[in-house]
Amino acid sequence: MVTAPAANAAAEGSSLRVRDVSKRFVSPDGAEFLALKSASLEVGAGELVSLIGPSGCGKSTLLRLIAGLDTPSAGELYVGTERIISPSASRGLVFQDPNLFPWLTVRRNVQAGLVARGVLHEKHHEPDEFIRLVGLESFANTFPHHLSGGMAQRVALARALINHPKILLLDEPLGALDAFTRMRMQDEVLRLWQTRRTTMLLVTHDIDEAIYMSDRIVIMSPRPGRIERIIEVGIERPRERSSAEFLKLRGGILDMLHFAGGETA
Ligand SMILES: Nc1ncnc2c1ncn2[C@@H]1O[C@H](COP(=O)(O)OP(=O)(O)OP(=O)(O)O)[C@@H](O)[C@H]1O
Ligand SMILES: [Mg+2]
Repeated sequence: MVTAPAANAAAEGSSLRVRDVSKRFVSPDGAEFLALKSASLEVGAGELVSLIGPSGCGKSTLLRLIAGLDTPSAGELYVGTERIISPSASRGLVFQDPNLFPWLTVRRNVQAGLVARGVLHEKHHEPDEFIRLVGLESFANTFPHHLSGGMAQRVALARALINHPKILLLDEPLGALDAFTRMRMQDEVLRLWQTRRTTMLLVTHDIDEAIYMSDRIVIMSPRPGRIERIIEVGIERPRERSSAEFLKLRGGILDMLHFAGGETA
């Protein structure tokens, strides 16, 4: 059997199970409130699922719990059969702000995770493979302040993917980009997803983005933050944003968000 280069290999993502998870916080006035109430969700290995809902409905809270950056007040979370109790490189996180190290070149930013884990020597071919994977081979020696927003976000994706995450958690990763770059980057993320088969959980405020990209869409609502509904998209890929089925689903989701009592932006 021929072994494909790591960056092109079909890496099997892991399933995710969120079981009856609640998260309680104390608000500035000292009162306790539920940022997340009894959320349950199962995501299949290699599935791409979006979370949408009004500001404050607990999307980032849920992602942080899955990342292991925070612990639930009740309930359990599993990646495959393994319980999530702390952060792990196998659960990559990409935010709206690419958070690159400004003093490091693109290559050094991408390889930072390998350096931190002390495995750069044995995986020395991977930084260039992942830089190629996100189409930035001519920019490997460039510093972040010379990159456009879309390019910087590609570096952030490569930096997360180089750890071979079983799950990639994306918290509004395209939220700061202009409309055209954003649509190009949606295709880019879909290409990465199709190449690597990483399980992806994408938080977005953009209903079109959720429909264009996801297998399923989780609709959340606030006060207390909870999962309101889960919708199967079921439109064949590549999707056409102006198709009748796309627009019909869009209308349905808008109604549901209205029904859920919130605004989407
Ligand atoms: N560490 C914290 N301490 C106290 N309250 C918090 C903490 N983190 C989040 N919250 C609160 O929990 C609620 C849910 O926050 P969260 O960031 O998950 O919302 P969100 O759905 O991601 O919103 P947005 O769309 O604006 O990013 C909000 O009311 C927020 O103020
Ligand atoms: Mg958020």
